[in-house]
Amino acid sequence: MSFRTGLLSLAATGIALAVAAGAAPASAQESVKIGLILPMTGGQASTGKQIDNAVKLYMQQKGDTVAGRKIEIILKDDGAVPDNTKRIAQELIVNEKVNFIAGFGVTPAALAAAPLATQGKIPQIVMAAGTSIITERSPYIVRTSFTLAQSSTIIGDWAARNGIKKVATLTSDYAPGNDALNFFKQNFTAGGGEIVEEVKVPLANPDFAPFLQRMKDAKPDAVFVFVPAGQGGNFMKQYAERGLDKSGIRVIGPGDVMDDDLLNNMGDAALGTVTAHHYSAAHPSAMNKEFVAAYKKAYGNRPGFMAVSGYDGIHMIYEALKKTGGKTDGDALVAAMKGMKWESPRGPISIDPETRDIVQNIYIRKVEKVDGELYNVEFATFEAVKDSGKTKK
Ligand code: PHB
Repeated sequence: MSFRTGLLSLAATGIALAVAAGAAPASAQESVKIGLILPMTGGQASTGKQIDNAVKLYMQQKGDTVAGRKIEIILKDDGAVPDNTKRIAQELIVNEKVNFIAGFGVTPAALAAAPLATQGKIPQIVMAAGTSIITERSPYIVRTSFTLAQSSTIIGDWAARNGIKKVATLTSDYAPGNDALNFFKQNFTAGGGEIVEEVKVPLANPDFAPFLQRMKDAKPDAVFVFVPAGQGGNFMKQYAERGLDKSGIRVIGPGDVMDDDLLNNMGDAALGTVTAHHYSAAHPSAMNKEFVAAYKKAYGNRPGFMAVSGYDGIHMIYEALKKTGGKTDGDALVAAMKGMKWESPRGPISIDPETRDIVQNIYIRKVEKVDGELYNVEFATFEAVKDSGKTKK
C-alpha cells in the first residue's frame, strides 16, 4: 500500500467512522414516533378519551424524552371501525414511518392492524382490546390491557361458590363478549351453576329493555353482564328503571360494566354489585392513590380501567426504549418487553415472555359507598393471573 492510498483508505475509514459515529447523534435527534389509534368519536369514545388522557399524563410526569430520543405521539381517531384502523395503521407505518402502533379500543380494530404490524416489524401495543386470541395474531403484539378470560373465569367460580345457582347472561355480541360468556359458563357450570338464558346484544346501540323485562319474570339469582367500557351506565340506568335493583336479581360480571369512569353516576342501583377485574380506582396502593389524584387534577374525573392500560402501555414503551438504548428495531423492542415486570396503579404486572400478554392480579370487588361516592371495593385477590384463553399453549 503506497503512502497515498494508505492515507486515502485511512481517510475513507475516517469517513466511515464519522458516518457511523454521526449516525448516533443524528438518530438521537430524530423523534420516536408512536401512532396512537383510538376511538375518539362514536360509541367507544370514552375508551379513547381515557387512554389519550393517561398517555398525556404519563408524558407530563416523566418528560417526553427517553434514552436521548424525543417521543412524538400521533393520535388518530378510528371510531372503533376496523377498516379505518387498518387504513390509518397503513398510513402511519408507510408515510409517517412510526416506530410503534398503539391503542386499539376494540378487538376488531386490534385484529385489523395485526398483519400490518407483522409486515412492518413494528410493535403493536394493545391498550384496550381484551379477546384472548389477539396476541396470537402477530409476534409484534404486546398487550397491557386485560383479557376477558382472566376476569370471567374468576367470577364464574366465585358465583358458584357463593350461593348463586341460576344465572341469565347478557353479553355484547362480538369476540370479547363471546370470551366472557364462554369462560364464565365453563367455570360456573363446573361449580354446579346453571345458565337459564343467554342473550346477546349488538355492540352498537344495544337495547337492554327486552332482556331486562324478561328477567323480571324469570327471576334468576343473577344476571351475568359483559358490555364494553362506556356502556355500563346505560345498562344500569335501564336495570334501575325497571326496578330490577329491588328485585333481588344481582348483577355480576367482569368489571367492564362497573367502569370507574361511569360508576359514580350510576346511583344506588349499583350498590352491592360484585365483579372481578384488574383495576379499581379504589385500589389501596400508594401508587394508585397518586395516579387517581393526578388524573383527577388533570381531567376532573377519576380514571377507569382503560386509563390504566394506556398509562401502563406508554410506560412499557418508555422502558423498552431505555433497554434498547433508544434503538427502534421492532424485534429488539419486543424482546425488551418480554418478561418486563413493573408496578402499575392496578398492582404488580408483567408481560408473559411466551405470549406477550399481560399477567396481573384479578380482584373481586363489591360496589360500596366510600365518602359519599360509589367505588368498586376490592375484597379478594387472585395473584399473577395469566390469560387462560389462548388457542395455542
Ligand atoms: C374489546 O373490544 O376487546 C373490548 C372493549 C372494551 C372492553 C372490553 C373488551 O371493556
